[in-house]
Amino acid sequence: MKNILITEFMNEECVNILKKKFHVNYDKNMFQNEEKIKKEISNYEGIIVRNKTQLQKSIIDNASKLKFVGRLGVGLDNIDKKYCEEKNIHVQTAAGMNADSVAEYVVGSSLYLIKNIALFNNDTRKGLWPRSSFNSRELKDKIFGLIGFGSIGKKVCNLVQNFGAKVISYDPYIDKNLQNKFDVKFTTFDEVIKISDVISIHVPLNEKTINLLNSNVFGKMTKKPILINTSRGSIVNENDLINAYKKKFISGFALDVFEKEPVEEKFYKEIVETFNCIITPHISGVTEESSKKISEFITNKVINFFN
Ligand SMILES: NC(=O)c1ccc[n+]([C@@H]2O[C@H](COP(=O)([O-])OP(=O)(O)OC[C@H]3O[C@@H](n4cnc5c(N)ncnc54)[C@H](O)[C@@H]3O)[C@@H](O)[C@H]2O)c1
Repeated sequence: MKNILITEFMNEECVNILKKKFHVNYDKNMFQNEEKIKKEISNYEGIIVRNKTQLQKSIIDNASKLKFVGRLGVGLDNIDKKYCEEKNIHVQTAAGMNADSVAEYVVGSSLYLIKNIALFNNDTRKGLWPRSSFNSRELKDKIFGLIGFGSIGKKVCNLVQNFGAKVISYDPYIDKNLQNKFDVKFTTFDEVIKISDVISIHVPLNEKTINLLNSNVFGKMTKKPILINTSRGSIVNENDLINAYKKKFISGFALDVFEKEPVEEKFYKEIVETFNCIITPHISGVTEESSKKISEFITNKVINFFN
C-alpha cells in the first residue's frame, strides 16, 4: 500500500475512501509546521494540499518517494510545479471544480456594489433613511470586462449575460473562435480597462500578471468601474487601489485575495465604513458544494494514478 499525506482540510468522506486504498496520514493543520512536513515527506508517495502548504524546492528535495501532488483547488503559487516536473512528480489541480462558486461570488459582488447596497445598508442601520444619498445602477446593458477567459471567466460571462450585461475580455492565449460561442468581444487590455463598468480578474499569478493593476492602469479607467479580484492578491497593487478609490477612478471594489494573507492591518485599516467595498478571506471558491466536488475529483485522480 502506498502512503498518502494530507496536510490541509479535505472532505472527511473522501479521506475515508482513500483510507481503504492507502495508508493515509490526515492532519489538517500540518501545513502550519513546515519543518514537520520537511522531515516526514520522505515516507510518502502522494501528498494532498490546499493553498497553504508550501511545496518548494527545499521540501521537494526531501521527497524521495513522492510521485503525486494533489491540489485541492486551482492556483499553483504554493507549489514549484516546474521542479516537480523535473523530479517526475505529477501535479494535479482540481481545475474548474470551484468555478461555479467563484463565478457566483463575482456576480453577487457586482450587483451589491453597482447598487451601492453597502452604503444604503450602513446608513439605514443607523436609523437614517438615505433614499437619494447614493445612486443605484443596474447591471443590464453595462460593459462587463473580464481579464482572463478560462474556466471562471467563462462561467461569469454566462451568468452576467443573463442580467443583460455586455461582456468584453482580454485573454491573449484563448481560442478566438470562443468569441462567437460565448457572444463576447475579445479585445486589448487597454480597452477593457478604459470602457468597462465592471472589471473582474481571472488570471493566474505569474511574472506577467503580478502588479497588473497599478496606479498607471487605474488612471486610465474612464468609467469609474467596480473592480473585483478573486484571483490572487498581488495582481492588484493594494496601495494603488486605495488611492484609486479615494481619487474616484473606481467606484467600488471586491477583494477576496490579498498580497499577504491573512490581510494585513496596514491595508484593512485604510478601509472605512463609507467605502463601497467588500473584502472577504479568500472564500469565493469555497462553498459546501465546491469543497465536496474538489475532494471527490482529487480522490479519483489519486486512486487512478496509483492503480
Ligand atoms: N479565490 C478563490 O477562492 C479562487 C478559486 C479558484 C481560482 N482562483 C484563482 O483564479 C484564477 C483563475 O482561475 P481559472 O480556473 O479561471 O483558471 P484557468 O486556467 O481556467 O483560466 C485562466 C485564464 O487566464 C488566461 N491568462 C493567463 N495569463 C494571462 C494574462 N497575462 N492576461 C490575460 N489572460 C491571461 C489564460 O489564457 C486562461 O484562459 C486561478 O489562477 C486562481 O489563482 C481563486
